Amino acid sequence: MTDFKQRIFSGVQPSGNLTLGNYLGAIRNWVTLQKTYESIFCVVDLHAITVWQDPAILRDATREVAAGMIASGIDPKECIIFNQSQVPGHAELAWIFNCVARMGWLNRMTQFKEKAGKNRERASVGLYVYPDLMAADILLYKATHVPVGEDQKQHLELTRDIAQKFNNDYGTDFFPITEPLILGEATRVMSLRDGNAKMSKSDPSENSRINLTDDRDTIARKIRKAKTDSEPIATTLEGLEGRPEAKNLMNIFAALSDRRAEDICAEYGGQGFAAFKRDLAELSVSVLGPITEEMKRLCDEKTYIDQILKEGSEKARIISEPILKDVHNIVGFLQS
Ligand code: AMP
Ligand code: TRP
Repeated sequence: MTDFKQRIFSGVQPSGNLTLGNYLGAIRNWVTLQKTYESIFCVVDLHAITVWQDPAILRDATREVAAGMIASGIDPKECIIFNQSQVPGHAELAWIFNCVARMGWLNRMTQFKEKAGKNRERASVGLYVYPDLMAADILLYKATHVPVGEDQKQHLELTRDIAQKFNNDYGTDFFPITEPLILGEATRVMSLRDGNAKMSKSDPSENSRINLTDDRDTIARKIRKAKTDSEPIATTLEGLEGRPEAKNLMNIFAALSDRRAEDICAEYGGQGFAAFKRDLAELSVSVLGPITEEMKRLCDEKTYIDQILKEGSEKARIISEPILKDVHNIVGFLQS
């Protein structure tokens, strides 16, 4: 078994612009991991339509997310990149998992509660069973590791519960118990306007996030305008407790410069935010500028992107079809 490589699977929704949160929490880590794991990266369009998506915008956003992954350094020759709806096994296995997962488990999912808000009666049924589809994404390839941001931790615990229950119910060890990989100094990037809210594609305020479609001037301006407080920067990370905006900027600085947040505090501690922000703006532009420009170029090459997604989905089907066939067999579906 010397050529055995462990397999990672991860996904991003094409439901708006890619943000700095997606980059630091997820995609940047995938770029490193692709060297040591067999890697499958998915643009999860089936997940996106759990809330309304305009069809033409969804098509463009799907290409844009794929372009963002490639521009960030995911190598389509080494990894599989595809959009979820081109591999029917995701929806099929999700149905089986709808019958494995318990209502009580889904009722505990905090992301559903946040997204459905007060108007739960009017949320789509898809939004409620979203975590079952996510478990299907992962287990359709028997992925052993899943690199994500902090916000997906609970969904990955549910994936483990589903695998465990399936294995118990059917008396098998068929599905692996997947390990989350939550890596780096910025596993939860917060809004630039409110240090208690997650940086998100769906925040109505453009200034709350950095998009991977922003040009260099916009990136620098958003960092300069980011909310801070009137205290000097603390010399230790601990000293930033209770100052969520300052702590967030510190983590972003650390992640973008590949340094420890603790060391950045030591360097800027005692000063106001002016020099820190100037340097962070410069750093952000130097790291993100080349990515956003390459992404923009790739977005104009629709045929190239579509071809990558097509080839990726063919490779994904080759891995997933025999796994799904085994699942049918285990469950007792007659196959002729
Ligand atoms: P989504 O945009 O919800 O499809 O998320 C795609 C990936 O990016 C997941 O692994 C998320 O955990 C990660 N992610 C999204 N927003 C953030 C954030 N603000 N901080 C860290 N990771 C994030
Ligand atoms: N739910 C994830 C998010 O919103 C996206 C996702 C869908 C995913 N399927 C996945 C992430 C499988 C990791 C593995 O961030």
